[in-house]
Amino acid sequence: MAVRAHTAIRYEPSAADSPFARDVIAGLTARPKRLPPKYFYDEAGSQLFEQITDLPEYYLTRCELGILREHGASIGRLLPADTAVIEFGSGSTRKARILLAAAPAITAYVPIDISPEMLAEEAAQLRRDHPHLTVLPVEADFTKPFHLPAPVAEKARTGFFPGSTIGNFEPHDASAFLRHARRMLGTGAILIIGVDLIKDAAVLNHAYDDAAGVTAKFNRNLLARINRELGADFDLDGFSHEAFYNSERRRIEMHLASRKRQKVRVCGRSIEFRAGETIHTENSYKYTLGSFGALARGSGWKPLAAWTDPNKYFSVHALAANH
Ligand code: TRP
Repeated sequence: MAVRAHTAIRYEPSAADSPFARDVIAGLTARPKRLPPKYFYDEAGSQLFEQITDLPEYYLTRCELGILREHGASIGRLLPADTAVIEFGSGSTRKARILLAAAPAITAYVPIDISPEMLAEEAAQLRRDHPHLTVLPVEADFTKPFHLPAPVAEKARTGFFPGSTIGNFEPHDASAFLRHARRMLGTGAILIIGVDLIKDAAVLNHAYDDAAGVTAKFNRNLLARINRELGADFDLDGFSHEAFYNSERRRIEMHLASRKRQKVRVCGRSIEFRAGETIHTENSYKYTLGSFGALARGSGWKPLAAWTDPNKYFSVHALAANH
């Protein structure tokens, strides 16, 4: 059938068949119910996450910043000359700034983030603070293949993956990510990666269930976002935040537990919850220095060095691409 040029046939992708909607429906119709953690980070979620990093219970960020400050110069000495730092999930870029100050070898910075607002703000600020640094922001989901900006091809490449975000992958996916990073960064690459360590369960539990309830708010923001963007009708007070260390699987599990039996409308569907039924929203796997080293070696990288804070709560590893 011929379509005349003046006939305006417009396809408006409706919220109901966006990738977000598809992932939400797939997760909420699965058993047990789950939601992909990458959707935590809309603007509200990114701001809440920044607040988490300042919480007294959330030792991870403080420990990692301490390690980077203390050992930044040693890390810098392991980097090749004229290197681009490619940061996976850059957020506030606070940690990259410490590396930039400590390592003159860094001549370009490529922050990759899923939140365009955060990315634009941080890039502008960094250009002001480091006029000689080439800043090349990339808006992308770093777990999927994406292209590095062309100017990076002429430089040595250093991956930077702080925050123990690697712990939010299933071990198998963590290995796949490390292999993917190895391929993308290429021969001669270095990877600087933050990894949270196994420790007393009470310390772990408090870090993910703080007294002020910020982590609870962050977790529930996922439901608020589904309401906002997909027109769902989650009653936020009907779900409670649950976080606990599963010592057998060496991970913190985060859930949203339905406080009662209830039905929720999401994208034209009715999703039923039993009282106490949970939506599993995230895992945060914990490693030892040895177990992470083994994972790295099995994923295309050679461990060069690792640093910890005095309590051995957190670690930063330097890895070199294998051949
Ligand atoms: N990767 C960090 C961690 O696992 C940060 C993080 C990701 C986080 N998702 C979170 C912290 C949810 C608290 C709650 O700790």
